Amino acid sequence: MKDIFTEIYNSNLWENPETVSGDGSTVANTITTNEKIVEWTSKFGSNVVDIPCGDFNFMRLIAPNFKKYIGIDIVDELMENNKSKYNFSNCEFLSGNVVNFDYASLNMAQPDIIIIKDCFIHLSNKNIFDALKNLTRSNIKYLVANNYVGSKNENGDVDGGSRPINLSYPPFSLPASIDTIFCDKDWKNKQLSIWRISDITMEESYWEYYTKNNKTNNKPWYFGLEGNWWWGMTEEQFLEEVEKG
Ligand SMILES: C[S@@+](CC[C@H](N)C(=O)[O-])C[C@H]1O[C@@H](n2cnc3c(N)ncnc32)[C@H](O)[C@@H]1O
Repeated sequence: MKDIFTEIYNSNLWENPETVSGDGSTVANTITTNEKIVEWTSKFGSNVVDIPCGDFNFMRLIAPNFKKYIGIDIVDELMENNKSKYNFSNCEFLSGNVVNFDYASLNMAQPDIIIIKDCFIHLSNKNIFDALKNLTRSNIKYLVANNYVGSKNENGDVDGGSRPINLSYPPFSLPASIDTIFCDKDWKNKQLSIWRISDITMEESYWEYYTKNNKTNNKPWYFGLEGNWWWGMTEEQFLEEVEKG
């Protein structure tokens, strides 16, 4: 997996001139995200783990105010760049894989919040499942992640692509989040949500049930209106999902 994302980084595959992490990570596109993270860190604690942290493009605007911030990414070169570019006394950067990271090894006695932003959209369903399961074994209290309302987590066999992920839908089936917002003006069904990790259970039997019963279909990853606006769904489906709440 490290090779795939190192290649994506080296080729700037997501083609954004401001950040190697792509359009969802520009300062302009993360205003709502940053406001919400500031609100949640004030409320729930600001010992923050951010995995993946990418190039720290927008998080650098708020992380210096946290009690402590540890940014982690699978691409070693990215972490070396972040270390040399950003010298905030409360911020640390490490290489690591979200699927199996050992959170007990962190130099942070009690992490309050883990932010997993724009990561699961690039991973296979199995790796997302394992990353969530790994989290439930940690002592971190809250998970912040994106959720694409209405997506059915299709085409989940490979790492390195991009597709909308709905953590509320099988095979992940997370419980209701404790707070959520629509966070991106370009991807209208994209939410940023926060869960209490003690509310999450990832039983291996869920995964076994899903793989046994899942009828893989071949719908394209992108369909709908105006480019990626309604990523993974039609406007009608989106409005139906919003109605359901
Ligand atoms: C779209 S960027 C998002 C980065 C950051 N969260 C943001 O919003 O700007 C995706 C990042 O995920 C990293 N990544 C992909 N798979 C990973 C994994 N298994 N563990 C840790 N980082 C991973 C990539 O190297 C890349 O930097």
